[in-house]
Amino acid sequence: MKSSVYLTSFLLCLLLNGNETCRPQIGTLLEGLLKFIQEGVKFSEEEPPDTKNLLREYDFIVVGAGSAGSVVANRLSEISDWNVLLIEAGRKENYIMDIPLPAHWWSLTDANWHYKTVPNGKSCLSLKHEQCLFHRGKVMGGSSTINFMASTRGNRRNYDHWRDLGNPGWGYDDVLPYFLKSEKITIPELANDTKYHSASGELTVSYAPYRTQLADAFVQGGSELGYNIIDYNGATQIGFSYLQSTTKPGTRMSASRAFLHPIRNRKNFHVTKGSLVTKILIDPITKIAFGVEFLRDDKKYVVRARKEVILSAGAINSPQLLMLSGIGPTEHLKELNIHLIKDLKVGYNFMDHPVLPTVTFLANANSFITLEVLTNVSGLEDYLLYHRGPFSVPGTAEGIAFINTTDPNNPNIDPNIEIFFLSACISSDPFFNTFLGYTEELYNTVYRPIENVHCYTPIPVVLQPKSRGRITLKSADPHEKPLIHHNFYENPEDLETHLQAIKFALNLGKTQAFQNLSAKLHNIPVPACSNLTFSSDDYWRCAAKQTAVSVWHYSGTCKMGNSSDPDAVVDPRLKVYGVKGLRVIDASIMPMIPAAHTNVPSIMVGEKGADLVKEDWGLIPLSG
Ligand SMILES: Cc1cc2nc3c(=O)[nH]c(=O)nc-3n(C[C@H](O)[C@H](O)[C@H](O)COP(=O)(O)OP(=O)(O)OC[C@H]3O[C@@H](n4cnc5c(N)ncnc54)[C@H](O)[C@@H]3O)c2cc1C
Ligand SMILES: *[C@@H]1O[C@H](CO)[C@@H](O)[C@H](O)[C@H]1NC(C)=O
Ligand SMILES: *[C@@H]1O[C@H](CO)[C@@H](O)[C@H](O)[C@H]1NC(C)=O
Ligand SMILES: *[C@@H]1O[C@H](CO)[C@@H](O)[C@H](O)[C@H]1NC(C)=O
Ligand SMILES: *[C@@H]1O[C@H](CO)[C@@H](O)[C@H](O)[C@H]1NC(C)=O
Ligand SMILES: *[C@@H]1O[C@H](CO)[C@@H](O)[C@H](O)[C@H]1NC(C)=O
Ligand SMILES: *[C@@H]1O[C@H](CO)[C@@H](O)[C@H](O)[C@H]1NC(C)=O
Repeated sequence: MKSSVYLTSFLLCLLLNGNETCRPQIGTLLEGLLKFIQEGVKFSEEEPPDTKNLLREYDFIVVGAGSAGSVVANRLSEISDWNVLLIEAGRKENYIMDIPLPAHWWSLTDANWHYKTVPNGKSCLSLKHEQCLFHRGKVMGGSSTINFMASTRGNRRNYDHWRDLGNPGWGYDDVLPYFLKSEKITIPELANDTKYHSASGELTVSYAPYRTQLADAFVQGGSELGYNIIDYNGATQIGFSYLQSTTKPGTRMSASRAFLHPIRNRKNFHVTKGSLVTKILIDPITKIAFGVEFLRDDKKYVVRARKEVILSAGAINSPQLLMLSGIGPTEHLKELNIHLIKDLKVGYNFMDHPVLPTVTFLANANSFITLEVLTNVSGLEDYLLYHRGPFSVPGTAEGIAFINTTDPNNPNIDPNIEIFFLSACISSDPFFNTFLGYTEELYNTVYRPIENVHCYTPIPVVLQPKSRGRITLKSADPHEKPLIHHNFYENPEDLETHLQAIKFALNLGKTQAFQNLSAKLHNIPVPACSNLTFSSDDYWRCAAKQTAVSVWHYSGTCKMGNSSDPDAVVDPRLKVYGVKGLRVIDASIMPMIPAAHTNVPSIMVGEKGADLVKEDWGLIPLSG
């Protein structure tokens, strides 16, 4: 089949050389693909092109076309009297990124900022140079274009907590309408639950049109352990479920595809890609933000904002840009000779979910082994013609369980851990290890022996970590990567919670549902822990410190809080304290990380943030 040759050669080029070099091949690839794709089943509509002639001044400048920024740009440019410029450092979303199964491959291209953590001696110990790889989208759609597409919101308690911390308007009943506003549910058995789901938004949420036996075992195993099979985006969160994903059945629905493709013809909406914002321009006397500086093709541009600059650069780059512009901790900015505009605790309160992808099971059931999937001609054909079959599964992830290990039998409580279920393991794909970054020693010892063996990974996740990290600048040069002090396990309680999550995952493997598939814990120990009794508590504590990594849910670094909160960077209307005409609208404002993968919550922040802007400019009545 010709298209498979195109596909394979293109993917190899992409992985070996990065996105940019392979662009010329896209035409050839698409030619091959299009032969097989009938009219009407195209991957997606066109994204908005780069605007040829930028203006000197816009009403609003939005920095970052990621999960939140895409929504903000869409909702603000609904107002035809306002013009909006969206500035994105990354480039065009590649059609190939719409294919869900190899989600992790896109992090190996230049659609990623390629950040690494500062070693903390307590985690990421079996990673190359003790550094975890902190992936972050640098492309239209931001991280939603390279993520695993899990669609989760968190629970009532998460958002009521935000409100109770001093943020009126952010309780669950306040934010639920915004989750509904974005959503276009395509799952028939959930669509009728109109209290929690909506079919009228832009962001399609679906089940994958293909399931392995392992996915069924996961849900049945949960049932055997006494858990309900639930809609985790509904009334309660405790239980097991197949994965709800931000996909239009079988293809990725990035935030750009959902919110920017449909508005590509709006006259009052301009986009500039490949454009790195280096500074927010703020008058040092009046403290009014009046524009931004950015670099495109090594040329410097200055664009002014009549009304507001909105920072949606994500939880690593939004604090970086604030600090580069003089907003941040006095001492730190002084060290770097950055002129201080406003002393705020920018970059503090970094939160993320540590996960352990090295809890590996072998099973006698089909899992996603890349070589098998790629050589399954009927699978490829099924995908190209109908967007179904193995390629339609997001990053091999098929299920989610949310559990509270302190009160496991109570279905009406909030979870402290998650099991994120992948029907694959680190040896299933030659690029998983490149994506995660473990040492050669670890890979060769533990995973090389099980290449091409069917396996699955019930990834234990700590949902409410107590450790806090921090983002700082390495220098005042905007090209220099910021320093990420992730601080996993800094608070030892997180390690103990992780241990409980690991034990839960191990018990799940003992259920009849999995035993029917001859599930067996892969028992080659992590080399650095091999002197401990395999699978003892101490073994797992050691394995977690060696091999737990990020699931890339960075949040909290421009914390939202009221005026009595000394750690707050933005107020509950997302305005930066002490500066006029400047807001942050993205995952950095979250005062607490929700018990959720953070894409849909970031989109919600974008929806709600856009409404706050409209209210403040008198366009819609204040909601109180
Ligand atoms: C590999 C991976 C897998 C993930 N899996 C999931 C998942 O399955 N489910 C889920 O819910 N979440 C997942 N996440 C997390 C989720 O995607 C993010 O939390 C979410 O996208 C964050 O949204 P944001 O708007 O805050 O930032 P982003 O989406 O990261 O957007 C920020 C944008 O700003 C741009 N930008 C930054 N600095 C500048 C600058 N100086 N100038 C111009 N532009 C700039 C960036 O290029 C980017 O496009 C994953 C993330 C990664 C990386
Ligand atoms: C800020 O929020 C806290 C917690 O809800 C509350 O105690 C305090 O009074 C609030 N302060 C202001 C100025 O609103
Ligand atoms: C929605 O429909 C399903 C059957 O498809 C049913 O089981 C469920 O109870 C309904 N939910 C609501 C809220 O009506
Ligand atoms: C190959 O693809 C077909 C069609 O999508 C699918 O039914 C089958 O399960 C796949 N086989 C494997 C081993 O993945
Ligand atoms: C888990 O259960 C305990 C005990 O009932 C409860 O105190 C806690 O709030 C629940 N949720 C979390 C996130 O720990
Ligand atoms: C396990 O397999 C047996 C025999 O095929 C079957 O009867 C039983 O229903 C299966 N149990 C589960 C939980 O899948
Ligand atoms: C096991 O080895 C690690 C380092 O390899 C060491 O830190 C630890 O003390 C050892 N534990 C025991 C019980 O020997």
